[in-house]
Amino acid sequence: MSNPRIALITGANKGIGLETARQLGHAGITVILGSRDKQRGAAAAAALAKEGITVSVLPLEVTDRASIAAAAAEVAKRHQRLDILINNAGILDWAAEKGPDVTSVDVFQRVFATNFFGLIEVTQAFLPLLRKSQAGRIVNLSSILGSIAEHADPNSPIFGRHPTAYDTSKAAVNLYTVELALALKDTAIKVNAAHPGWVKTDLGGPDAPLDVVTGAKTTVHLATLDAKGPSGGYFHLGTHLRW
Ligand SMILES: NC(=O)c1ccc[n+]([C@@H]2O[C@H](COP(=O)([O-])OP(=O)(O)OC[C@H]3O[C@@H](n4cnc5c(N)ncnc54)[C@H](OP(=O)(O)O)[C@@H]3O)[C@@H](O)[C@H]2O)c1
Repeated sequence: MSNPRIALITGANKGIGLETARQLGHAGITVILGSRDKQRGAAAAAALAKEGITVSVLPLEVTDRASIAAAAAEVAKRHQRLDILINNAGILDWAAEKGPDVTSVDVFQRVFATNFFGLIEVTQAFLPLLRKSQAGRIVNLSSILGSIAEHADPNSPIFGRHPTAYDTSKAAVNLYTVELALALKDTAIKVNAAHPGWVKTDLGGPDAPLDVVTGAKTTVHLATLDAKGPSGGYFHLGTHLRW
């Protein structure tokens, strides 16, 4: 494998994305922090650089086609390839989530724009660079809230929770993950979906039981799978989740 590997993490200026960059960086991987805000990205990169990590910032707003195209062109110029793409950027707006019977289509469109359409567009833009890697890895940040099987099971711990726009966006991410893995099965690229757990971040809130260090572990594991590792799966800390 070409060394050092190069990883791009979207939405990496804070939360699980930043911690994922930190853990990958400490494993000797060159990390590129995708950040839609220049200053927040620069501050995050400065903190990682202080820890000895090889890091750079890439302006990347995942709902903006021009921003995605410019980001892909920049990585092509800097590195000519990409080994790891982590589709981490995501939103959950509890205030707008009023339940499946009343949440407006506008809310669904806004959430899907980041969590699903943005993920597809970023993936497609970076696929030519991932195809140049000897061992491309794509990790899509899903959630257990994207599991249809869990939602339909009255005994599931998530039964009855309905931030519906978020949940459906993550269910869509899951199916896209399976179909993309199948489409790439004859390549060196593996594609998997990660449930980080319920993690204390701005999105997860203060009551979440997991810290970011644990929350980043599933992503880091899937980003660094060896050639025998799975593709087209849905994982949390080494266990396969029900779709
Ligand atoms: N925390 C949990 O309990 C939990 C559970 C399951 C799944 N997840 C998933 O894990 C991922 C990371 O979540 P987190 O908890 O770390 O959330 P977070 O702390 O709120 O961080 C989200 C990151 O995504 C970025 N982002 C949002 N919209 C974006 C856009 N349109 N373009 C580019 N970047 C954008 C944010 O940038 P700004 O700072 O500029 O807003 C921020 O860097 C998400 O996909 C989330 O759905 C989290």
